Amino acid sequence: MAKVIIHAAKKKSRINKNIYGHFSEHLGRCIYNGLYVGEDSKIPNVNGMRTDVVEALKNIKVPVLRWPGGCFADEYHWKDGVGPKGSRKKMINTHWGGVLEDNSFGTHEFLEFCRQVGCEPYINGNVGSGTVREMSEWVEYMTFDGVSPMADWRKENGREAPWKIKYFGVGNENWGCGGNMRPSYYADEYRRYQTYLRNYGGNRIFRIACGPNAADYEWMDTVMSIAGPYMDGISLHYYTVPGKDWENKTSATGFNEELYYRTLYRAAKMEELVTRHSAIMDRYDPEKRIGLMVDEWGTWYDVEPGTNPGFLYQQNTMRDAMVAALTLNIFNAHSDRVQMANIAQMVNVLQAVILTEGEKMILTPTYHVFDLYQHHQDADLLETSIETGKTGLLLGEQVPQLTLSASEDENGVMHITAANLSASEPCPVDCGILERKAGKVSARILTGPMDAHNTFENPKAVDIQDFTGVSVTPNGLDFTLPPCSAVEITVE
Ligand code: AHR
Repeated sequence: MAKVIIHAAKKKSRINKNIYGHFSEHLGRCIYNGLYVGEDSKIPNVNGMRTDVVEALKNIKVPVLRWPGGCFADEYHWKDGVGPKGSRKKMINTHWGGVLEDNSFGTHEFLEFCRQVGCEPYINGNVGSGTVREMSEWVEYMTFDGVSPMADWRKENGREAPWKIKYFGVGNENWGCGGNMRPSYYADEYRRYQTYLRNYGGNRIFRIACGPNAADYEWMDTVMSIAGPYMDGISLHYYTVPGKDWENKTSATGFNEELYYRTLYRAAKMEELVTRHSAIMDRYDPEKRIGLMVDEWGTWYDVEPGTNPGFLYQQNTMRDAMVAALTLNIFNAHSDRVQMANIAQMVNVLQAVILTEGEKMILTPTYHVFDLYQHHQDADLLETSIETGKTGLLLGEQVPQLTLSASEDENGVMHITAANLSASEPCPVDCGILERKAGKVSARILTGPMDAHNTFENPKAVDIQDFTGVSVTPNGLDFTLPPCSAVEITVE
């Protein structure tokens, strides 16, 4: 039995909707065939963007999308991706599979995709192999409303009015694929590059510095100390890899219980990472002006047999749904500091919410978790205490059986998201609600064996169902979560 107490009158912090953000890179079949098929495709599209994918993403209210990378960002030269498609430069995507990149999806196409989905663009600039001038001119091209070489070129390329661009990342993983820099060197480079990201007209750039890899606390400390006053956000990347190293990441399906729990145990490290990085940030920014932007997170397994190893295409099971449920609850709990998070990646790559094959599309269990959690976006996090046992096979690799968040939206409706991480045991929950009576209650659930997943042959093997197992008690709510399940409970 887990015991929960929700303080309905104690609002802790606003859950920034961007915590439910996504990431798309020129990698494998994320952009090409995933988001974009081109105007001439027989797959239904609007201006080249897949209609089925756009509609599915609108359904989970994707708030923000990061692009063009990833490691690709520090090899990307944006000028190659604008102008008439026939004359755009072609390049080899050396990072990801050595395939030809024809630049047919560039700035205009990305911003058109965001328009169709209704999300904010988050553009990641090139520090590793780019120049200050190139980055500065990109911002001028997109946002300047007047006469200038870049604004004139944008108009020649068919876009009269400037776009509004808020989120801009200055480099990606500059400690690794983005230039192998040391933190103090990057911090100085960051200060220089960001100087020339101008705010034109009413546009205000939210500057995001490249933050650490996982537990690299020295990187966070150094970059914050040298460049803190010049940034609005700093990134953090952390991937859940259940295998013993990067050469043996293990399979996305067909795993045993030991690997199931190891995956959750490693995903749960996010709590420690966010806590410790936030503590460092607090020393330089006690007012919490600077956001921690976890702009890459998710599971990383071996690629599906027979697929290009550089394409990072993997299946997605109920195990991934549990990772998402756990991780999103961690971000909610830290929403005083975490202002954005971007799951890697949106379609066909790593922990994707959507998989496509030709004209077919399936929604993954992870997609359904984003669906269940969507009402936390821009809601107020409520103070909650949770008493739960641990679950897992090996003593050193256990996780809390119950993970849960509660928030109140602008209409006064309470949303509770919870997951039972046990693969085999149900989780009865006594959920007290203080300072509020539970009125009308409804709930939705996602559940299945840990390895359950959707395929192109059986696209609805895992899907959200109505959940009628929640009872209203004099003190709040009572319910039992089946093994390996995530729920959303709505309390009016
Ligand atoms: O998401 C795949 C890759 O993981 C990204 O390109 C890079 O930033 C990270 O190492």
